[in-house]
Amino acid sequence: MLAKSTDKQIDRTMVAIAILAAGRGTRMKSDLPKVLHELGGRSLVERVLYSCQEIQASRRLVIVGYRGELVKESLIASSEKEQENSQLPALEFVEQTEQLGTGHAIQQLLPHLQGFQGDLLVLNGDVPLLRQQTLKQLMEIHKQHKNSATLLTANLPNPQGYGRVFTDSQNLVKAIVEDRDCTQAQKQNHRINAGVYCFHWPHLEKILPELKADNDQKEYYLTDAVNFLAPVMAVDVDDYQEILGINDRKHLATAADILQVRVKDKWMAAGVTLIDPDSITIDDTVKLQPDAVIEPQTHLRGKTAIGSGSRIGPGSLIENSQIGANVTVLYSVISDSMVAENSRIGPYAHLRGHAEIGANCRVGNFVELKNSRVGDRTNVAHLSYLGDASLGEKVNIGAGTITANYDGVKKHKTTIGDRTKTGSNSVLVAPLTLGEDVTVAAGSVVTEDVPNDCLVVARSRQVVKPGWKLKQPKTVDS
Ligand code: UD1
Ligand code: CA
Repeated sequence: MLAKSTDKQIDRTMVAIAILAAGRGTRMKSDLPKVLHELGGRSLVERVLYSCQEIQASRRLVIVGYRGELVKESLIASSEKEQENSQLPALEFVEQTEQLGTGHAIQQLLPHLQGFQGDLLVLNGDVPLLRQQTLKQLMEIHKQHKNSATLLTANLPNPQGYGRVFTDSQNLVKAIVEDRDCTQAQKQNHRINAGVYCFHWPHLEKILPELKADNDQKEYYLTDAVNFLAPVMAVDVDDYQEILGINDRKHLATAADILQVRVKDKWMAAGVTLIDPDSITIDDTVKLQPDAVIEPQTHLRGKTAIGSGSRIGPGSLIENSQIGANVTVLYSVISDSMVAENSRIGPYAHLRGHAEIGANCRVGNFVELKNSRVGDRTNVAHLSYLGDASLGEKVNIGAGTITANYDGVKKHKTTIGDRTKTGSNSVLVAPLTLGEDVTVAAGSVVTEDVPNDCLVVARSRQVVKPGWKLKQPKTVDS
């Protein structure tokens, strides 16, 4: 579409995104950069990036400084993990070696955006609850009104700590004054700056060198840019919870609560039963099928998926694991593992390091499985450890069976064929292969491979001596 003649030099189609992620976040009292603190399965800055996914941006710039390499590595790793990101432009990292304020951070973009004629969406890296829709609306209003800058604002019941936004009757911004620079009268204004702005870059580019650090913190404030630009418009968010900025651990906990309500409402609306929702936590990276039931004190984390009709909990932790349909998990911990349909896990099972449980299995009562595959209809029902093992179908692992998979240096594999049964308290010393239809006698220590259809007894024979008695020691009196 052709631009209007009055607006010839303004290209309203190009958008670049810049995220401010260079600060340490002193108020977090942490070695970890603030923007890497985690909220519901994603870091704060990852969430900010996620909220911009619907914006058709041509560039994505992240300004890093304090432990910048760490922030960079973390964002690269997460963008590789998220397939959604495949359509998005690659992240570009811009260094702000000294953190002299949000305005100074944006000044670092000058050499990178030379000649860029579009709009720049700027987001603080510590505003993790923004909705994609909110940012789309902000961009639309910005374009529609051909503003020089448009910023997201909210009326907060408690605006303490935020910059206050002063507007005229047309919603045009006159000034933004930081909380610490406000007079008592200015503090009565509850309209705050969310730290999310859309600037027309050619305008911002011109005035960035004008910013002065004449404030309480002696920092270059991006918010002072509004003094040099016009028109600058404020756009209120409907739900002020969206723009919560995380400055300390208390804010982080508040944001986690808000996110939990959102995530739980979504899954309940989609047909999932949550029993005692307040005692449950669900990362928003988790996927649940209708008719799943999540019982109290259960925590679902990371890339976890739960199938329809499954009942998880009470008292379970599942992370980065795929649970099929109609599975029950009771008082158990499952990480980086898979469980197929109709299996029963627990009470007190620990599946980890790529355990794969087939369909219709029973695993539980103090059983640990690590990096092991279990075929359909196999039971490992009591007091066992299976590590680096591969079990066929319809195997029965007797109570207390242990794979001795570690020789002190290396881990070794155990393979167990279909329908094989191990007696109670067997020790299977790996590397070891038991064929199909093998029976291992209780208490055996099996060190050599066993072919199909065998009974293996690997323990000393019982000795019974009839009439044998301990000699009574003589006492003085006798
Ligand atoms: C900022 C705004 C304030 C607004 C609030 C919203 C300014 C001057 N103030 O205040 O008006 O109400 O956000 O949450 O912008 N950062 C850098 N480099 C720096 C300094 C900061 O990249 O030199 C980054 C931080 O990592 C952070 C973001 O900018 O992600 C905001 O910095 P922060 O110190 O939290 O600003 P606030 O004091 O909260
Ligand atoms: Ca902040």
